[in-house]
Amino acid sequence: MAIVAETQSRPVLVQLADLACHDLGADYCMITMPTPRQTAPVPVKSTGTSLAIQGNRAAIEAMKQCEIIVDCTVEGMIHAAEWPEIEEAGARILVICNEHPEILERCEPKAELGPKVALGIRMLREASEMRVTSAAGTDLAIDLRNAPCGGTPGFGTTPGAVAHWPGGLCLAFPGPNTVNGRIVMDVGDMNLTFKSYLTSRIDFTVENDFVKEIKGDGLDAELFRDYMEAWEDPLAYGFSHVGWGMNPAARWVSGALYDKRDMQAVEFRAWAGNFLWSTGANQYAGRFTEGHFDLPMRKCTITLDGLVVVKEGRLQGDLAL
Ligand SMILES: [Fe+2]
Repeated sequence: MAIVAETQSRPVLVQLADLACHDLGADYCMITMPTPRQTAPVPVKSTGTSLAIQGNRAAIEAMKQCEIIVDCTVEGMIHAAEWPEIEEAGARILVICNEHPEILERCEPKAELGPKVALGIRMLREASEMRVTSAAGTDLAIDLRNAPCGGTPGFGTTPGAVAHWPGGLCLAFPGPNTVNGRIVMDVGDMNLTFKSYLTSRIDFTVENDFVKEIKGDGLDAELFRDYMEAWEDPLAYGFSHVGWGMNPAARWVSGALYDKRDMQAVEFRAWAGNFLWSTGANQYAGRFTEGHFDLPMRKCTITLDGLVVVKEGRLQGDLAL
């Protein structure tokens, strides 16, 4: 095993990973990279794209020799440029998200979530259309045909498996020209780039995968528009992924109890029964950009080919916990 970190990593997580590997009797090494300089025009948060490895050959080759990578980099290496090569060599990865350890403790991955998440991913794969509605006015249609689907219960057991802790979500990356409609984010829904709850509505018009209009008089809509514009990149307005959370230990209220620097806010991506949508890079639709929003919403109804999987924010049927 290798514990991979960077100079800006949360020290307690690296220490806990070290103790855990020691307790397990693992044969492990620790790799710490210098956190690179920033290059983006605005702060970048919660991308899942760690830049810490910086193409460093020694670090990459060391990781390729490992069975398990315990990833304590700030952003995590799930979408890192170096990961495909390491995965190809047979390593699997557990991203320890940059959360306060209390959050990780409460959201500890549980084996019973494995089959539930697997079922959700299968349902997404087999579906042709996702429809999302809400009392606030959301009415979104997503053509899921040929969309790559994934997710994680928070652990992986096979070579190449990718997991993050907290885990528990199912998602799809819609292909080109597949997302249309309207999304109304309501008070209490979350903007995870800002790590904040909305206190005013934001009304989005979506045409062929792109947010065309961001309406709303409140500060939330204004900050959203401002951050988008800062990228000066039309691709930042494109859809990335859509899905829902599955983790019963994740708590929507948790954000009221922690400082922003105490959380990566992955808990809210995983909270059971949310509708999680995002803007930014979608490699499956051929769009690459650094701008990225993950936006979990409450009280939405999600259907797959007419079958209700989430009803007003609650998981249904065999997905319910
Ligand atoms: Fe995302």
